This record gives sequence, C-alpha cells and structure tokens, in this order.
Amino acid sequence: MPTPHISAAKGDIAETVLLPGDPRRAKWAAETFLEEARLVNEVRGMYGYTGLWKGNRVTIHGSGMGMPSLSIYANELITEYGARTLIRIGSAGAMQERIRLRDIVIAMTATTLSTPSRGIFRELNFAPCADYGLLEAAVAAARRREVGVHVGGIYSSDVFYDERPDLNEIMVRHGILGVEMETAELYNLAARHGVRALGIMTVSDHLLTHEALPSDDRERSFGDMVEIALEAAFA
Ligand code: ADE
Repeated sequence: MPTPHISAAKGDIAETVLLPGDPRRAKWAAETFLEEARLVNEVRGMYGYTGLWKGNRVTIHGSGMGMPSLSIYANELITEYGARTLIRIGSAGAMQERIRLRDIVIAMTATTLSTPSRGIFRELNFAPCADYGLLEAAVAAARRREVGVHVGGIYSSDVFYDERPDLNEIMVRHGILGVEMETAELYNLAARHGVRALGIMTVSDHLLTHEALPSDDRERSFGDMVEIALEAAFA
C-alpha cells in the first residue's frame, strides 16, 4: 500500500465502495451525496473520494471503462484496502422494447463472451451473479422512486463498437435487458473474494429504438442511482 493504481493510505478506503465508470461522476456523487468527502486517490485521474452518508463511511471511486479497467480497481480495493461491498453505478444500452431511457436496470446475472477471469475458468462457463441481499434492497429502494426499474440478466460486452450485431440480436431474443461493459467481472471478483457486489445501471441509450440521452440529462438519473446504491448498501 499504496498500490500501482491507488495512492490512498491504509484506512482511507471504506468497506463500502460505489464504482461509477467515469471518475468525474465519482467526484460529482461524492460532493453531492457525502458529508466530509475527501479525495483519497487521483492516480491517472481516476478519482476516489471517501466520506459519510447518514453516518456510514463510503468510498466512491471510478472504475474506468471495460472489464480490464474495472478488474484493476476492484482487485486492489478488495485485496489491498478491504472493500467488502462493491456497487457499480453505470450506464447501459437497453435491449428490450419495454425499457425506456432513464429507467434503471439491476443486474441479476451478467452474460459475456469473455472476461479477464477467462484464464481461470477456461472451459467452464461460470455464472456471475449479484449478491441477493443487495439486489433485493436495491429493488426495494428503486421501487420507492418515480423511476422504471427492471431486474434480470444483462450483457457485459468487451466492445462498445460491435462488429457482430448478431450477438446483440441473440441477447435480445434471450431476454437480456441491456448491454454495458463491466458488471460480469465485478461479479466474478466478488465470488472469488467472498464479498458482496451489485451492478445498477441507468439506461443511456436504446439499441432497438436508437434513442440516446443528451449528456446534461444524465445527471438526474445518475443521482437516483447513487441514492439507490447507498440505500441498498446500508439497508
Ligand atoms: N454503456 C451504455 N450504453 C452502452 C452500449 N450501447 N454498449 C455498451 N456499453 C454501453
């Protein structure tokens, strides 16, 4: 300690960590929802803040985009800093007609082509899944709000610009709710290290209708998601 990617001192990271992909979102969420928020990491511009929410210690730390990046931060947060509850708060592209922009998708499972854990699992198709207690608490928190909520399987893709549209089509036919790029590996790591994890995403774009949220519109839905994650973590 510090690790190659996190300069925080021992004790600077809370047991509960929220992981937005975008480090500026980590800054915004910490300044908006935490008391006594303090910058604890900025290596490579990947901000991490620790503060208090209703008296509970919380760290909000960027994960970067994609599973290789998330895997670096989640590994170090768990194995070096003692994180025990990790909740991804990100965005996803919707894959079902009934899902609307700004709705919340809570990932029960995450399908992938591959993850950074492929080297361990090899021929095994491990099924990455959410922590049930967190999932249940997040669903309850989401239902208390005026927001559409969908719970089910998502697709954690390795690519944003996909040259294989047939894969998305297969996901749609199998009822997958949305596509993002991080949750499956978060669930793999949580299983490996015996910690709790959940992926909560707001819908920023729609793969079937081709709608997309303007960037300034995303902040309000992002705020709902931060509160849902905090309520679930401390339920
Ligand atoms: N995150 C948000 N929208 C996405 C999309 N369409 N594909 C992959 N990741 C996403």
